[in-house]
Amino acid sequence: MKTISSWFFRLAVLYLLAGVTLGIGMAASHDHGMMPVHAHLNLLGWVSMALFGTFYRLWPEAADTKLARIHFWSYVPAHFVQMATLAMLFRGMASIEPVVAAASIVVGLSIACFAVLVWRYAATTAPAQGSATARPAAA
Ligand code: HEM
Ligand code: HEM
Repeated sequence: MKTISSWFFRLAVLYLLAGVTLGIGMAASHDHGMMPVHAHLNLLGWVSMALFGTFYRLWPEAADTKLARIHFWSYVPAHFVQMATLAMLFRGMASIEPVVAAASIVVGLSIACFAVLVWRYAATTAPAQGSATARPAAA
């Protein structure tokens, strides 16, 4: 089941674009006030989601579980809310902090689901992916 893996990769690269855009904006403006947002867009967005995508591509039987769907459908919205509200917090909206906290806890619980799957499947042999004929022809 490649869907979860594909969507984690697609979303990951959007977070990379957002994180790098914010990084360039921070560097250009000499205002590093959004550094935690930049760091976590890149690390919880790009790096973590790309690793989730890699794991689910290598262990498709893990991707085919209810726990993987719970992981995906909790992580993606919670991380989005976490980043949006963290940005608002660092723009001075102190009252948003409980929402950042709640979203962060959901992200943490979602990662715990992923951890269970890694422990359950990582020791099993990952099947070979694709075949020579399934690859796009070289240019
Ligand atoms: C064009 C790309 C990027 C630019 C222009 C950029 C820019 C910046 C800037 C200006 C800071 C603040 C530094 C400071 O105040 O000390 C920063 C911090 C950081 N960036 Fe980036 N960044 C880029 C890409 C990335 C990527 C791809 C990642 C991760 C995969 C990343 C991870 C981090 C982290 C973790 C910090 C916090 C470092 C610390 O705690 O001192 N950045 N970045
Ligand atoms: C729910 C998940 C997470 C929460 C709630 C969280 C929270 C935090 C907090 C409160 C800080 C201190 C920020 C500051 O001093 O202004 C921080 C810094 C940092 N975190 Fe996380 N973190 C999470 C996940 C991660 C992950 C998965 C990574 C790496 C893959 C990571 C990498 C970093 C780095 C490099 C810094 C230092 C850069 C900075 O100050 O922004 N964090 N995190």
